[in-house]
Amino acid sequence: MELDPSTINQREMYKLMIGGIVPRPIAWVSTLNREGIRNLAPFSFFNGVSSSPPALSIAFSHTSDRADGRKDTLRNILDTQEFVVNVVNETNVVVMNETATNFPEEVDEFAIAGVTSTPALLVKPPRVAEAPICFECTLHTSVPVGEGPGSATLVIGLIKHIYAHDDVINERGYINIDQLQPIGRLAGHGYCTIGRRFDLTRKTYQPD
Ligand SMILES: Cc1cc2nc3c(=O)[nH]c(=O)nc-3n(C[C@H](O)[C@H](O)[C@H](O)COP(=O)(O)O)c2cc1C
Repeated sequence: MELDPSTINQREMYKLMIGGIVPRPIAWVSTLNREGIRNLAPFSFFNGVSSSPPALSIAFSHTSDRADGRKDTLRNILDTQEFVVNVVNETNVVVMNETATNFPEEVDEFAIAGVTSTPALLVKPPRVAEAPICFECTLHTSVPVGEGPGSATLVIGLIKHIYAHDDVINERGYINIDQLQPIGRLAGHGYCTIGRRFDLTRKTYQPD
């Protein structure tokens, strides 16, 4: 089957993307608004960008809930230039889902979901105490991609500090995936845990 995006409507396109780009890691993003109210929400169009400078990316889709199309998290990042990405795992996934509701801006999502907030080291938004790894970020760039429904704003953040629970990093500096227990996002309401794992060594090209 060949699929031409120019002939597919936005909702169908979205379905193909969230079903085909899987599993996605989940950034549980804490921010503060201009008045200092805490916001917490999950985003799975999320990935690493570079290690020098250390950077990550999150794409915020346009929302019709707000006149400017910006979700609270995006607006807070653009206003304050700071955010924390808390990693979602098996321990915190159910409470993470509580924070995905489109609450009004003035609702403190830490309080409503019963999440423990703890001060971050270098940025003002708090981190989630229940998260095994937290990346404290400042805004590097925001890039609008399209306009209206289906469009998004890609945010690139510079990682200024990392908090990790002691038991998720081993003595050689590797993340221990059995301790991390990360969750992946699938299509619809689907999620997954880490299943069968295997190694593949990569060969280096050797010219004759
Ligand atoms: C697991 C999960 C992943 C999500 N990923 C995204 C995403 O990548 N981009 C996005 O715009 N919304 C995503 N959402 C929806 C937002 O979390 C939702 O719109 C939320 O209400 C935004 O909150 P805010 O307005 O406080 O920022 C996701 C929701 C869930 C449950």
